[in-house]
Amino acid sequence: MLVLGIESSCDETAVALVEDGRRVLSNVVATQVDTHALYGGVVPEIASRLHAERIMPVFHQSLQQAGVTLGQVDRIAVANRPGLVGALLVGIAGAKALAWSTGKRLVSVNHVHAHLVAPFLDTDISLDRSLPALGLVASGGHTSLFRVDAGWRLDLLGATIDDAIGEAYDKAASILELGYPGGPVIDKLANQACDAEKADAPDFPVSRLERSSLDFSFSGLKTAVLYAVRGVPRRVQGQDKPVYERTAADLTDAQVRGICSAFQRAAISAIELKLNRALDWMAEAGKPAESMLVGGGVAANSALRQAVGRLSKERDIPSLIPPLSLCVDNAAMIAAMGYYKSPLSESEFLHLDAHARAVS
Ligand code: KG4
Ligand code: ZN
Repeated sequence: MLVLGIESSCDETAVALVEDGRRVLSNVVATQVDTHALYGGVVPEIASRLHAERIMPVFHQSLQQAGVTLGQVDRIAVANRPGLVGALLVGIAGAKALAWSTGKRLVSVNHVHAHLVAPFLDTDISLDRSLPALGLVASGGHTSLFRVDAGWRLDLLGATIDDAIGEAYDKAASILELGYPGGPVIDKLANQACDAEKADAPDFPVSRLERSSLDFSFSGLKTAVLYAVRGVPRRVQGQDKPVYERTAADLTDAQVRGICSAFQRAAISAIELKLNRALDWMAEAGKPAESMLVGGGVAANSALRQAVGRLSKERDIPSLIPPLSLCVDNAAMIAAMGYYKSPLSESEFLHLDAHARAVS
């Protein structure tokens, strides 16, 4: 079965063709990251406009690269949640138009769930032997843990109660005036920190929440970085904004590397802690995880990969992390999930709507 996938939930316009939920024939992604970098983060209105401009060229390029015609496509899959509503609507309108004009079936896909299908793309890893799995989606918009059962039934075990981990990286980088997106640069500087720089760095808190919680919280860490970089804020009469003791420009390179390293340690320790708890929880519930699936842009992080590798050894289960091109937002994962899910009925399909949240 040949599925055409469409993704437009945030700042990537993507169209892909995937055969039988596994073989990627094409995976075209037009990223808007350079445009949003000018504003220090994703601007929703600009994202929608760029999707509208790019979706048709990306669609044609994807068909061309796969060497297929629209007539050969069996179904069309589109991400309809969660994400920026205006951005999602562009992909949904495109998908509806294609499905309606060709009489093909349409499948709606949860973008976050789709990240967890990505480790199986272009592999022959057995699904049966990998499930049930513990799934982690760590990106700029999401930090969620799922129990993944056969038939791609996903149960949300925990999620961030404030910022997503990638968002925390981006905000920390913004406080340190390191540019956007922040993840790659903080990861790089953290790895460059020497022992003395690490020893001099602040000891940032690892968020644990209550004993049994599988949720995450990263906003406290972000505030800790703000105070470490700029000092304690003070209210000054006649001024709207608090006044800080210093700016990021006052830090030495060694101090910046130390802060990056301390931030990365605290952020990734929180993830490792919850992965451990979730694996215990699944084992106690009588259905131990057969594997760990990891997706989302933060899966590129060196410390996260090391932590997952460590856990995988300790627990003696494989960890499946796709190559970077399939970790970041893409439409191949949407097409793959579209293969496993039931298409919408004739009466449902024209009513398909965009939803900002993962569940309504
Ligand atoms: O999955 P993605 O491409 O888009 C979203 O759905 O958000 O992820 C982008 C996020 C950004 O927040 C970026 O800073 C983060 O992934 N990221 C990283 C690394 N590479 C990208 N975070 C930590 N370490 C990295 N090496
Ligand atoms: Zn994503």
